[in-house]
Amino acid sequence: MADISTPIRKMDDREKAAGEARYTADLTFEGMLHAKTVRSTRARACIKSIIVPPLPPGYATVDHSDIPAKNAVKMIFDDQPFLAGDTVNYIGEPILLVVGPDKAEILRIIANIQIEYEDIPAILSMEDADRKEIPHICPDNSFAKYHYARGKVETAFKQADKVIEHTYRTGYQEQAYMEPQGMTATYENGKVTIYGSMQCPYYIKNALIQALGWEGNRIRVVQAATGGAFGGKEEYPSIIAGHAAFAAIKTGKPVQLIFDRTEDMTVTTKRHPAVITLKTALDKDNNITAMQADIQTNAGAYAGLSNVVLQRTMFNIAGVYNIPALDVSGRATATNTVPTGAFRGFGAPQAIFAIETHMDAIAKEVGEDPLDFKMRHMVKKGDLTATGGIQKEDIILPELIAEVCRMSGYKEKSRVYTKDHSHRGMGISLFLHGCGFTGSGERDHIKAVVKLVRHADGMVEILVANVDMGQGAATTLKKIVATAMDIPFDTVIFPNPDTDRVPDSGPTVASRTAMIVGRLLQEAALELKNIPGSEEVEVTKQYVHPDDMEWDDPTFKGDAYPAYSWGVIAAEVKVNPVTLETDVKGVWSAFDVGKALDDRIMKGQIDGGIMQGLGFAYLEVMQGKDGWLLQKNLTDYMIPTTLDIPAIQSVLLDNPCIRGPYGVRGAGELPLLGAAPALAAAISNALNIEVNTLPLTPEELMEGIKP
Ligand code: MOS
Repeated sequence: MADISTPIRKMDDREKAAGEARYTADLTFEGMLHAKTVRSTRARACIKSIIVPPLPPGYATVDHSDIPAKNAVKMIFDDQPFLAGDTVNYIGEPILLVVGPDKAEILRIIANIQIEYEDIPAILSMEDADRKEIPHICPDNSFAKYHYARGKVETAFKQADKVIEHTYRTGYQEQAYMEPQGMTATYENGKVTIYGSMQCPYYIKNALIQALGWEGNRIRVVQAATGGAFGGKEEYPSIIAGHAAFAAIKTGKPVQLIFDRTEDMTVTTKRHPAVITLKTALDKDNNITAMQADIQTNAGAYAGLSNVVLQRTMFNIAGVYNIPALDVSGRATATNTVPTGAFRGFGAPQAIFAIETHMDAIAKEVGEDPLDFKMRHMVKKGDLTATGGIQKEDIILPELIAEVCRMSGYKEKSRVYTKDHSHRGMGISLFLHGCGFTGSGERDHIKAVVKLVRHADGMVEILVANVDMGQGAATTLKKIVATAMDIPFDTVIFPNPDTDRVPDSGPTVASRTAMIVGRLLQEAALELKNIPGSEEVEVTKQYVHPDDMEWDDPTFKGDAYPAYSWGVIAAEVKVNPVTLETDVKGVWSAFDVGKALDDRIMKGQIDGGIMQGLGFAYLEVMQGKDGWLLQKNLTDYMIPTTLDIPAIQSVLLDNPCIRGPYGVRGAGELPLLGAAPALAAAISNALNIEVNTLPLTPEELMEGIKP
């Protein structure tokens, strides 16, 4: 059999390219109604009254009193209501649904609904969160406050030859997946079925079990075709699955709830804005001896996943560097703004931007070449991780750097551009990504189970809860099973997950699918291969935690991740000296994802991840004002288009991982992380200015070049 990395045709390419894939909005059911959400127009208020006009026959409203058991979306904390009760906490918070057969009539009804509010002073920014005169949303206005430390930080700062401190800021980022969020619910014979665009079928099922107070066998969740998610369809879909389900139960009819782009962009979760201060101690030879990090993120009005997103920012704050003493504080701040949540990288992009930009700034201040300075501090096998775990595997960063330097001409170009005042610039970033859930999450919370069925006709069916959302999971998981069983790829089937058929193999998040779920499927496939006979037979496998992973959750000590993937990105820019617009001239990258399960799918992840990271760095502006988001659609929120995409050259170096099947490491999030710091460094080089705030718009750069 061919090397597993050899590309095969992607399983979903034809139906998606031909327009045949059935997205949530393509589904129709006999007698189906539509639903639309009535939302808060106040950042923080008590609801005094709601007056609904007389409804025509066949129309209904659904509010918090229609929720059978518990009006709280099941996440880590249960603080977020499905539908507001007495108070609203952000602009866009759902209050009620109007349901009926005709969308235009629904809009007419909504236009005549009157809601009377009594405003409460609102916390509209992270700065407001510390203003004493505004009532707090939760204790200390923090959904989470964490701290970890290792080594002798205080001593190092006392004995330091130099101390260098900078503050880094990053903004919102919108996932901008292909189709907006949407759900359809049916209610028949006492059972609710949800069809929708999603990453985590069992998150939705468990959210409905809690909200409805029903047995699990009365709730079924089926993934419809999903055209991108990027974390945006991790936790958010649980809310609207609830809405569609409550409406279907109340009306007894199928109900479809589909967002338009503006609704999607203004009310769904986005990347956490962050403010990160890094303070670093150096000895007389300019070796880093200690670093203090202070991280604050804007979580919005409800906790959601913000505490675990913050943990990933904190655990990644040292980047790829071996820093002898480390003190890290983090706070997820409550504000009366749209809740932020999962987004590809899950807190790491903010950290990697900060540490990489900080390393460049230190190198500049001490007069050393940035890449040399970084390479002197790089972590090696056997070194401690940020949280005091052990780097157990070979680290091939030097080889990755060599590849990128060779392809890009980084050293020569940066030498020339630094001197020639041509407004050209080169930047390079080094980064890692923790693969899979943080700490003991897989063992304590997820407990993944996978199932393989060999049918009587010989076809082998993969039954897992993980979705293909364009990242290629259907193809790569099939390749794992076919390769392990030594059977042709087209004898393996991967249906869209349906919770009535698939076990809970966990959510499709955290770069865990190939490494964790794929490994279980590989084990199941090897076992199935050795079962003789032609009757239908099934094999299930359950996650077993590696016994060489030590993690103490209360103190954040030990191995925060089972494995790491690695990357290096160099970017070249030319900045227009008059308009300060950035033209990205080229991007070169090298990655250690262990062993790619399919080179072409990996190339897709690299190109897409790099562009999403570049967008975060210089194009994608999303700002809040008085609790409103100013960018409401894809004409005023600019993501990179094909015209913005430079030549992206990339190489993969094999370095098989001890955890994943065929040596694969988590790879979906990795490429995004290094794009922003590489671009920021290139712009800094081009204009000879300090940059520490993303996105690097012309307006932002103008601030930087002011004398
Ligand atoms: Mo992802 S940001 O772990 O859905």
